[in-house]
Order: sequence, then structure tokens, then C-alpha cells
Amino acid sequence: MIKHLLDITDLNPDGIQRILETAANLQPEGGAIRKYPALRNKTVVNLFYESSTRTRTSFELAAKRLSADVVNFAVSGSSVDKGESLKDTAQTIMAMGVDAIVIRHKASGAPHRLAQWVDAHVINAGDGMHQHPTQALLDLFTIRQHFPSFEGLRVAIVGDVTHSRVARSDVQALTMMGADVTLVGPPTLLPPQAEHWGVATTADLDAVLPKADVVYLLRMQLERQQAGFVPSLREYSRLWGLDSARAAMLKDDALVMHPGPMNRGVEISAEVAELPRSMIIDQVTNGIKVRMALLYLMLGTPGEVAANG
Ligand code: NCD
Repeated sequence: MIKHLLDITDLNPDGIQRILETAANLQPEGGAIRKYPALRNKTVVNLFYESSTRTRTSFELAAKRLSADVVNFAVSGSSVDKGESLKDTAQTIMAMGVDAIVIRHKASGAPHRLAQWVDAHVINAGDGMHQHPTQALLDLFTIRQHFPSFEGLRVAIVGDVTHSRVARSDVQALTMMGADVTLVGPPTLLPPQAEHWGVATTADLDAVLPKADVVYLLRMQLERQQAGFVPSLREYSRLWGLDSARAAMLKDDALVMHPGPMNRGVEISAEVAELPRSMIIDQVTNGIKVRMALLYLMLGTPGEVAANG
């Protein structure tokens, strides 16, 4: 397995497949939650410089279910508030003897710098507008629970692609696995370089919905937007929000996904978020499984789960 997971492209399709299969084996569908001794002598540090509900808790639970010791390094209240650099913080953490650092940072590339400074494994839990590779893995896992293959699967990724690290990682992961991806949204929120991503782009959501197998809605990332990308949120929602009328255009077996946190009533209506085809809660559940698989494959001793599990 890879030493670090910084970009989703650090993995090839076989590596992705291996993580998805391991995740399914570690926590079989419908089975009780299991705890494994595989990472008993390992320490995982969560180093989150940006707010997070799902991702930090998910990594914490994943590591704990593998019996690792987990430290949640609280950035506010630490010496980071006194201006300590990422490098000094990293060296301090390393001096305490850790095996893996899970980092979220507002600066694109911060996990890559960290990986140059430390001996530990580094996992990117979201860096700026750049990458969120474990989100892509859990999204693939969720899709794979419903479709036999990614080959030719039609996935529409809708909304604020420009500011979305989730979109970047998901596009790369999905195209790598053979899916057919279309980015949908106002041209101001679709990055110009998207034409080199091997995807189609359009502003016309209604034309895409009847053909889509998966509609993946992105959060309007208002904290990252300078004014002026869309005339108003109301207008955005009218043209690109998924409400019940639009959801009725979907194929019977099409899935609706969203990485969370949702702006209900903006990119997705409250009713659509609750539909059986909505995978939003499954994505959260699957996040723990996939992160367990990743931590196990990166830090564990091969064979130990089978022996002890
Ligand atoms: C995403 C993130 O922080 O990148 N959330 C998440 O990790 N589930 C998406 C977002 O903030 O919109």
C-alpha cells in the first residue's frame, strides 16, 4: 500500500478496488459493528485546522475500531494560536511518536508539505479547494453498493465545482474507474480547466437528470466565494437546486448524493434529502468503513484482521 494518501491519484484502480473490498469485509452489510485489534500499538493524530463534523469524527471512530490510540489535536487552544508554524507543530507531534497524521488545512498542498517533514503516514482529510481523497473513496463505496460496476455509469456532479475539493477528487476517482462524468452548474462555478478533466460540462440540469445514474450535489461553498458567482441563492436554487419536481425526472434506480454539510433549500430541498434514493446518511456510515480499510491497509500488518477478526 501507499505510504501517504495526499491525492486520490496516489491510488490506481486496483488500489481503490482493494480499499473498497477491504471496507466491505471489515464491516459486512447489516452486521454488528466490529472492533479489531489490528492497530493496537499504533497512534493516529487528527490535525484539523479547519472545521469538520463528519470527517474528523469518522477518522476518530475508524481508528478506534481498529484499536489505535487516537489524539485529536485541537488547533484552537494549541500553540498554533500563538503562531506556531505547521512545520514546528509537525515536529512536535512527531517527537511524541505517532504513526499517522490525518490533516485538514485551508491551504491547498499543506498535507504534501507535511509529508516531506514527517516520518509518519499522512492522510489528506481536505486541503483548501484541492483534494479530499477519502471522500472520493466513500462516495465510490456508496455507489458500488447499488451498481455492479463503475464502467459507463453516468454521474452528474452539480453545483459549485470551482470551490470544491470533493468534486476534484470525485471526478478523478470516477473517471479512473470508467464512469462517465458530467459537471453541471452555472458557468461561473465550473472551472475553465474542467475541459482537461475528461468530463462533459453543461448548465442544463434538466437535460442531464433523466439519463443520470447518480446525481451528486455539491454544497454552495459561500465561505470560499467572493461575491458575484450567482445572482442570488434563490436564483441558484431555481436553476440548479434538486427539488421534488426535478427528482421526479430521475430514473427509478438513480441515487442522490451530497458530501454534507447540506444547505437545505439551496442545492437540495429538505424533501429530496429524505427520499429513499438519497444516500447522504449512507455516505456518512460508509465513511467510517472506508477509513478503517485505508488505515488498516496503510498501517496494519497484513493478515492480522483475518487472524484476529
Ligand atoms: C466537505 C469538505 O469539507 O470538503 N465536507 C465533508 O468533508 N464531508 C464538503 C463541503 O464542505 O462542502
